[in-house]
Amino acid sequence: MSKKMSLKPFICITIGVGMLLLPVLGTAGEGRAKMSLYGGKSGEVDFNHHLHQAVVEDCSVCHKDFPQEKGALEATKKIGQLKKKQVMNDTCLKCHRAKKKAGEKTGPVSCKQCHKK
Ligand code: HEC
Ligand code: HEC
Ligand code: HEC
Repeated sequence: MSKKMSLKPFICITIGVGMLLLPVLGTAGEGRAKMSLYGGKSGEVDFNHHLHQAVVEDCSVCHKDFPQEKGALEATKKIGQLKKKQVMNDTCLKCHRAKKKAGEKTGPVSCKQCHKK
C-alpha cells in the first residue's frame, strides 16, 4: 500500500467531522460578535450582536430597516431612509419594553444602561 492511499481514511474522517460541525458553527453567528454603535451626544452603545442573534433568531427583526453591512445604520440615516433614534425606539426599546412587561428576560430600557454618556 502506498503512503498516499493510507491517508484516505484520515481524510474521510476529517471531512465527516467537518460536516457534523457545520450546523454547529453555522449557528455561531454572522457579522461582528460585538460592536459599538454611534449614539450621538449620549455616547456609544455597546451592542452584543451574537447574543441578539441567539435571543431574537429572526435577523429581519432588526435588518428590515438597514442592510447586513458594517456602518449600515449611519449610512441609512444619512440618505434619510431612517430617522435618528428610529432603530433605538422602534426596534431596541420596543422589544426590551415588551419583554419587561411580559416578565421575560430583557435588555436595558433606560438611557444610561445603553449609552456611555
Ligand atoms: C437586535 C438587532 C439585530 C439582529 C437580530 C441581527 N442584527 Fe446584524 N446587525 C445589527 C446591527 C446594529 C449591525 C451594525 C450595523 C452598522 O454597523 O451600522 C449589524 C450588522 C450586521 C452585519 C454586517 C457586519 C458587521 O459585523 O457589522 C451582518 C453580516 C449581520 N449584521 C448579519 C446578521 C444576521 C445574519 C442576523 C441573523 C442571524 C443578524 N445580523 C441579526 C443588528 C442586528
Ligand atoms: C436599548 C439601548 C438604548 C437605550 C435604552 C437608549 N438608546 Fe439611544 N440609541 C441606541 C442605539 C442603538 C442608537 C443608534 C440607532 C438609532 O439612532 O436609532 C441610539 C441613538 C441615540 C442618539 C443619536 C441619534 C443620532 O443619530 O444622532 C441619541 C441622542 C440617543 N440615542 C439618546 C438616548 C436617550 C436620551 C435615551 C433615554 C431616554 C436613550 N437614547 C436610550 C440605543 C439605546
Ligand atoms: C426582539 C427583541 C430584542 C431586540 C429587537 C433587541 N434586543 Fe437587546 N436584548 C433582548 C433580550 C431578550 C436581552 C437579554 C438577553 C440575555 O441576557 O440573555 C437583551 C439584552 C440587551 C443588552 C444587555 C446585554 C448585553 O448585551 O450586555 C443590551 C445592551 C441590549 N440588549 C441592547 C440592544 C440594542 C442596542 C438593540 C437594538 C439595536 C437591541 N438590544 C434590540 C432582546 C432584544
